[in-house]
Amino acid sequence: MSALKNDTFLRALQRLPTDYTPLWLMRQAGRYLPEYNATRARAGDFLTLCKTPDLATEVTLQPLARYPLDAAILFSDILTVPDAMGLGLYFAQGEGPRFERPLRDEWEIRDLSAPDPTDKLGYVMDAVRSIRRALDGSVPLIGFSGSPYTLACYMVEGGGSDDYRHIKTMLYSRPDLLHRILEVNTRAVIDYLNAQIEAGAQAVMIFDSWGGSLTPHAYKEFSLDYMERIVAALIKERDGRRVPSIIFTKGGGNWLEAMAGIGADAVGLDWTVDIGEARRRIGDQVALQGNLDPSALHGTPDSIRAEAHRIIDSYGNHPGHVFNLGHGISQFTNPDNVSVLAEAVHSRSRAVRAAPVSA
Ligand code: CP3
Repeated sequence: MSALKNDTFLRALQRLPTDYTPLWLMRQAGRYLPEYNATRARAGDFLTLCKTPDLATEVTLQPLARYPLDAAILFSDILTVPDAMGLGLYFAQGEGPRFERPLRDEWEIRDLSAPDPTDKLGYVMDAVRSIRRALDGSVPLIGFSGSPYTLACYMVEGGGSDDYRHIKTMLYSRPDLLHRILEVNTRAVIDYLNAQIEAGAQAVMIFDSWGGSLTPHAYKEFSLDYMERIVAALIKERDGRRVPSIIFTKGGGNWLEAMAGIGADAVGLDWTVDIGEARRRIGDQVALQGNLDPSALHGTPDSIRAEAHRIIDSYGNHPGHVFNLGHGISQFTNPDNVSVLAEAVHSRSRAVRAAPVSA
């Protein structure tokens, strides 16, 4: 395996000095790119794309060919794990993900078990190995998983939800059943992320997209405590290098201190917090990743530059920032606007880094 040519992203996650702020975008390989849509059409559908390592490799590399991004992220989905547990994932046209067999009955929950990641999810590990070969050390590869709670939301609701009625009914009326699902998911995520690291993932991220819908007390009990167990069980070093971990709870701005305390190297921020304030709250414990509003990419080149500069300047001249969006890039984004963003992030942060260190 060739040496890493650009380790800016990994260094920033470890809060080591870098010449500029590294950048990647959640969902950077996605429907806003015409070349992604072409590959997806060749695959037939999104799940086949995920399950075909050569095609997953192809789309992972597409945004890197267009933009000077500092990391690649495995092309897959968080819902492949419950799919491997037998829930029957499918994507209905225009409706997002759904499960054929959502978890509602007690016996189904008692029967649930963590899948062997090298068996049912072997196609993901094949994709990781294939992407690492194709990247040839140009930038690091990020592996990922959903959080136990976010996975449980989809498993119990059977798909996306506006009111989280089924999972919250379970949380308040049968917390024992929800804890049983979360136990299984925690085991599954640990095995899955460690298998990705063994296959070649150089950093890992846990997506907790739905944890922000909980009360502070329930967030700790049903989401954060399980992520803490996962982080503690992850492989920390591989090929003589730290494998950093990032946790991201969308809507988690109220709980940054708690999130910073679970042992992850970095905390992802959505766009509802000021990153400079977040740095003052927790930046001596963890690196921060974020936090441009994805909708800012619908603006003009000037407004995109202004928003990027605001974030870079608010963070200031300190190590430990990875620039990203506060959530996935919209399918309606003009691809040219991502070039404007990348240029703005890299050039502004180089200028800030060249200035004397601020307080
Ligand atoms: O970031 C990346 O580029 C890596 C790939 C990735 C995808 N999904 C590809 C994808 C990652 C890390 C995810 C994570 C994911 N998937 C999350 C957590 C982050 C978040 O967005 O909150 C969640 C909740 C899911 C579940 C999921 N998958 C949903 C809700 C949808 C539909 C949403 C939509 O935009 O239509 C998906 C589908 C999906 N996952 C797409 C992509 C590129 C679009 C599918 C397509 O091509 O039709």
